[in-house]
Amino acid sequence: MSALPLIDRYGREISYIRLSVTDRCDFRCQYCMPMNMRFLPKRDILSLDELLQVARVFTTLGVKKVRITGGEPLVRKNIVWLCEQIAALDGVREVAITSNGSQLVKLAKELAAAGVRRVNISLDSLVPARFRELTRTGDLQQVLNGVDAALAAGFPGGVKLNTVMMRGFNEDELPTLAKFALDNGMDISFIEEMPLGDIGRWRGDTYYSATEAMPQLQQHFDLTASDYDSGGPARYWQVAGRQNRIGFITPHSHNFCSTCNRVRITATGELYPCLGQNDASDLKPALRGEDSSRETSDEALRQLIMQVMQIKPKGHDFDVYAPDAKVIRFMSSTGG
Ligand code: 5AD
Ligand code: SF4
Repeated sequence: MSALPLIDRYGREISYIRLSVTDRCDFRCQYCMPMNMRFLPKRDILSLDELLQVARVFTTLGVKKVRITGGEPLVRKNIVWLCEQIAALDGVREVAITSNGSQLVKLAKELAAAGVRRVNISLDSLVPARFRELTRTGDLQQVLNGVDAALAAGFPGGVKLNTVMMRGFNEDELPTLAKFALDNGMDISFIEEMPLGDIGRWRGDTYYSATEAMPQLQQHFDLTASDYDSGGPARYWQVAGRQNRIGFITPHSHNFCSTCNRVRITATGELYPCLGQNDASDLKPALRGEDSSRETSDEALRQLIMQVMQIKPKGHDFDVYAPDAKVIRFMSSTGG
């Protein structure tokens, strides 16, 4: 079948899906979920075959890039198999993973062999006690070993770090984290905290913007705006004398919705056209329809996906200072 581009009402072409394979995670990051997070029942989670079917149908509509996310995607059993299958689909140019790094010592090599091109690893602190406080259950050394394993595995598109900036937690460490990334041949993106899900406290206290981080980093690095585009929302700065870049993901201070090229699928098969809005469409009936053959199920999915393109909103309106989280989903359920 020929590839039909998915184009929304605002003329944006959707060529990228973020597929969450589980809402579960071995960490409980402070900004992401409450300590007593309730996870979804297993029966509601799409099977690996269903996830593959969703990815395949999207590729028949012109999607070229698939990012596997979670929760922590690498806690899902047989995740390497799914990556390998998706990488082998017609039309797929890139499979990438976003991970907390905890399982990479075990899996990095296999993932690279399965055709995963890029890995983004979340790393919010290099101080062991702080890392534990931020992630509640995470072990810094295990993640640093995971970073080493990922670098050694030789992902062709490279390994990148993601750091969520938080006042009072890690804002003093941003230059150290940047230096760590650059010294190890990695790009790093600093992310502004987003009001996703009720974490039991007001996010206004910890919100730290790129506008504050930039002058702080400029004291340590000579930064020049770069037109490098990784296909994501980060805006990059070239660092004098270094191969790698520093990026910022700034949903608040600089909105990037006008060039949005992606949609997200949760582990339960909900298709979200925007991370920052609550509208979604359930793909499960099309996937689990009673007597549907693969062809009718594929066609039902295709129709739904095309309909959802027509409700993709113009943008998000995140407000980290709002008293309640307007988006009730956690990042771990929609996929980062
Ligand atoms: N705001 C900003 N970033 C978040 N992440 C998870 N929850 C939030 C939030 N509320 C980050 C993770 C990971 C990426 C997928 O998203 O740290 O780096
Ligand atoms: Fe897990 Fe990532 Fe959420 Fe941290 S941010 S709890 S690593 S899903």
